[in-house]
Amino acid sequence: MNSDMARQTLPAIHQGLAERLFGLHGEIKADRDLTALSRIAVALYDERTDILKTFIHSSDGESPLDHSSEKMAQLPSLRELAQSGGRRTLNDLTVVAGLGQKHASRLVACGYLSSYTVPILSGGRFYGFLFLNSVHKGFFTPLVVHRLRPYAELIAQVVLRELDAVRMMHAAVKVIRRVSTVRDEETGAHLARMARYARLIATKLAVKYGLDDEFVEYLFQFSPIHDVGKIGVPDQILFKPGKLTPAEFEVMKTHVARGLEVIDLLARDFGTQSLAHFSVLRNIVAYHHEALDGSGYPHGLRGAEIPLEARIATVADVFDALTSERPYKKAWSNQQACDLLRESVGTKFDPDCVAAMLDSPDEIRDIQASLEATVFD
Ligand SMILES: [Fe+2]
Ligand SMILES: [Fe+2]
Repeated sequence: MNSDMARQTLPAIHQGLAERLFGLHGEIKADRDLTALSRIAVALYDERTDILKTFIHSSDGESPLDHSSEKMAQLPSLRELAQSGGRRTLNDLTVVAGLGQKHASRLVACGYLSSYTVPILSGGRFYGFLFLNSVHKGFFTPLVVHRLRPYAELIAQVVLRELDAVRMMHAAVKVIRRVSTVRDEETGAHLARMARYARLIATKLAVKYGLDDEFVEYLFQFSPIHDVGKIGVPDQILFKPGKLTPAEFEVMKTHVARGLEVIDLLARDFGTQSLAHFSVLRNIVAYHHEALDGSGYPHGLRGAEIPLEARIATVADVFDALTSERPYKKAWSNQQACDLLRESVGTKFDPDCVAAMLDSPDEIRDIQASLEATVFD
């Protein structure tokens, strides 16, 4: 599928950074020396799990690497670039593909024959890579690289600015949570893990639901904010060890509306409401307690009326809550948690989201191993 077709088939919600990258790509190709720049792609790095994941791209031809995620430990040459900040020119990808390098093989299979790679660094921190490709061998001459440099810098800045807006919002949420008492069960490690489960589910469902990597990234970034409204729930209800009375439960339910108020205020102050994917955050906050059979709250939505991002976040959140130790319960085994998810398919949980979790025992264990600490951060 070429970029034009991809753009037309994407719902408006998915047109954010990728859309802007597509525009920039068009401008770059208007330069006669750079017309053969056939693909620009950005991958982002998640330091906590060492995962490098595809994010946005603009490709003239087929897109070779959608929904890819790989441990950087498995990518020694890229890891070296990330550490050194150096750039890499490969003017004949067939040679690298011939050595068995699987990404290069996929690029070659889609007709891309040369590549130029730039690490995205800011303040000494590594955020990801910008990959440029051409269908011509030997395209990235010193002159072309020189001409591309300001464009590469611009794309890196656009990506960093967008990530910054999200990061500011996270920082604000962190402060809100620190000065409030919502700390006991919603530890930093719980939030970090549930966000990665959400990313895992979304990645597995991406093809079936036509989700692009940009959507998946925002889902990952925004999932941990789902319960920010709990700051409005009194401690004696929030921390009550036993079952809530019906009246207390009514109060508990207000954390959803309160959460929406908080994120709308934050969005106004940080300018994040202009993010193309802000609706992903709103939907997660608003609908993460809805259940598939309509028995959830606050709206009693059913099935597909519940936005997919909320259905994903719910399964991710519940799975981690079950497998974590809480003041009032021991941690369940992964098997026990999977059994409960399976039993509640169709009543509480979306079958596809549950299937994606059940299908991922290794990935789940990996997330648990890299985010074991239960400290609040
Ligand atoms: Fe909640
Ligand atoms: Fe949670």
